[in-house]
Amino acid sequence: MIALKNFIKNFIVYTTWKDNDQYPSLIYNNSIFQRISEWSGFSWLRVKFWNFIAKKNKAFKGFYSDGINPTGNKRLDELFSIGFLIEENFLTEETFIKYQDIFQNKVDNYLNSNEYLDSNKKQIRIQLDFRPNEVKEFEDEMTRLMHPLVHEFYGNTRPIFRYEIDASKDGTDYRSAFSKWHIDRPLPSLKVLYFPLGVNAAPFSYIKGSHLINKQWQGFESFFRSIKNYSKKGNSKKTLMLADNVELPLTDKLKDNIVELNNLHPNTLYLGAHQGLHRKKPFEERGYRFHLSIEFTHGFSKYNLISSALNRQSRS
Ligand SMILES: [Fe+2]
Repeated sequence: MIALKNFIKNFIVYTTWKDNDQYPSLIYNNSIFQRISEWSGFSWLRVKFWNFIAKKNKAFKGFYSDGINPTGNKRLDELFSIGFLIEENFLTEETFIKYQDIFQNKVDNYLNSNEYLDSNKKQIRIQLDFRPNEVKEFEDEMTRLMHPLVHEFYGNTRPIFRYEIDASKDGTDYRSAFSKWHIDRPLPSLKVLYFPLGVNAAPFSYIKGSHLINKQWQGFESFFRSIKNYSKKGNSKKTLMLADNVELPLTDKLKDNIVELNNLHPNTLYLGAHQGLHRKKPFEERGYRFHLSIEFTHGFSKYNLISSALNRQSRS
């Protein structure tokens, strides 16, 4: 009985994406399931289906039409035309100054901690934890200020905030899945990054124009949806990640369109279409980069996507 219960539990865990996120993922987190779905054509059909739905969403449809902004909100022009936008001086001066100190202290404490100093690893990427009341005012203001940029896509969905630090002790970097060019999802999906301390190392990078859902994009999408490019990582969760020796080959045209978001000022916000190609550039010297990763796909599931598509139809 317990074995059966565990089987069902594992089956569900492996077929949903990380952290119970219910937005369509590139692959199932179970290689057998993914193999069957590729072999039967279901994997391909599933992507066709979700893009058919996303195209009916009044804002996501802009990613299917040569990057024309369908929302009427001028602040979103670059998100549609090149795949991302940057806004400097995002938080009010008062909140920014207050939290810059809080974040810098947290980062310094971590970099001086035994946990960091005594670790054998030369490169680290971890989440720094804050008590909810420590960052409440900050998260409330971020949510309020992001609303005009994201509500056309996600309505009033409350985002989740992750406070992440990447560090390299000796200037080397491992070729993790994050530092390889990749797409996050096989359909339009946005992500916000906020840099309260600015960026001077291992910048986040994006390939302009790779967000448009066209023939070229279908090529990336099928590369990142192919189980042969993945291997199992980690002991406890058995997460499927791009295999160590696998990288998407870039054409010269794609290489010409790489933008590295380096030398960003503190208090800069990035909003990007993560169905397009992006990565964290590997470290080239010792250093660290602290950023917030802000996502909507925990609150905004595939069912919300369907209902957003239906709402648009009933209104028009
Ligand atoms: Fe990503």
